[in-house]
Amino acid sequence: MVDLESKLAQYPKETPKIIAFESVYSMCGSIGPIKEICDLAEQYGALTFLDEVHAVGLYGPRGAGVAEHLDYDAHKAAGNSPHPIKGTVMDRVDIITGTLGKAYGAVGGYIAGSDDMVDMIRSYAPGFIFTTSLPPVTVAGAHASVVYQKEYVGDRQLKQVNVREVKRRLAALDIPVVPGPSHIVPVLVGDAALAKAASDKLLAEHNIYVQSINYPTVARGEERLRLTVTQRHTREQMDTLIGALDTVFTDLQINRLSDWVRVGGRAGVGMNEAEPEPMWNDKQLGLGTPAAPRTLRDGERAVVDVKAVNVARGRFNVLLGPVGTANTATSTVNKGIDGAALAGMKIRTGTGAGTAAMIGEKMEIPVPPPQAVAA
Ligand SMILES: Cc1ncc(COP(=O)(O)O)c(C=O)c1O
Repeated sequence: MVDLESKLAQYPKETPKIIAFESVYSMCGSIGPIKEICDLAEQYGALTFLDEVHAVGLYGPRGAGVAEHLDYDAHKAAGNSPHPIKGTVMDRVDIITGTLGKAYGAVGGYIAGSDDMVDMIRSYAPGFIFTTSLPPVTVAGAHASVVYQKEYVGDRQLKQVNVREVKRRLAALDIPVVPGPSHIVPVLVGDAALAKAASDKLLAEHNIYVQSINYPTVARGEERLRLTVTQRHTREQMDTLIGALDTVFTDLQINRLSDWVRVGGRAGVGMNEAEPEPMWNDKQLGLGTPAAPRTLRDGERAVVDVKAVNVARGRFNVLLGPVGTANTATSTVNKGIDGAALAGMKIRTGTGAGTAAMIGEKMEIPVPPPQAVAA
């Protein structure tokens, strides 16, 4: 921030400038100081361009990203209102970009901003003008995904619960994780050849796919394995992953956290810095309440929220014809999803553990068999 301010201060306030930055940094899992950057932008007359590619679908009560998350309650209360909320961090950022890939599971991307800003980008951006537009089927898939995630916060919550658990268990085994407040779990290896060897061993000997991240993606000496923990991973899959990492660290004699402490630390590991507070706090995760998300066990069916499915499905009424809406009767719920692209999903009318009270009706879909934890 000091460096940014000194650069901004070199120019008169009226000289056009733009601060381009990310919210979640994908390789280390840190989160940019969005509010503070907006303050500087105001002070020095700069536009702000925020890349939320690694945050959309994963943060915020409606999945819009970290900028939304920073005013969680206000945005939650706003529900489906399309209007900006004055004074919120999200409203202060001039341009936000996100992807429809990654968390949303489709492909493509978007920018959001004022009408004039969006119009300007549409008119001048070669990447937009000279590119084949996205196929309707892709846009429909992305649309359904965005609407579903906006309606249902449970996937976001459970993912963070699982991330916390994996981080906790790695710490208990003295396996070094680059500290961060986000869902990214970077396991420090600190050597390019070792990181590649660890990735190969995990795949060949434990059937787990985790990419090694080497230079130039990270600085030399800060090579790592980047784990991707999802809401669909089961307790047993986590056990397998943790056991495999422990074995590989021992086999290859990779530095543990205590080893890094002894040599003064690296990449934020073992450097005596306070562990950042997770971006999702306990209250936002519903922890300590009957609605707390619960990690799946092998063979258990993942929760799919019927209300959210029906809202998403409703967006396509014009193309597919209307379907019934979910209510408390199983038969009606079944009717509500008949014909949707959800064949094979099962309905349950209650979920136990109180989650029904929070999010209403659920469907269940089979959890895939244990497999790789992809990076
Ligand atoms: C920070 C960041 N911004 C933008 C992108 C581009 O997103 P997409 O591949 O969905 O266009 C990526 C990676 O793909 C990324 O890591």
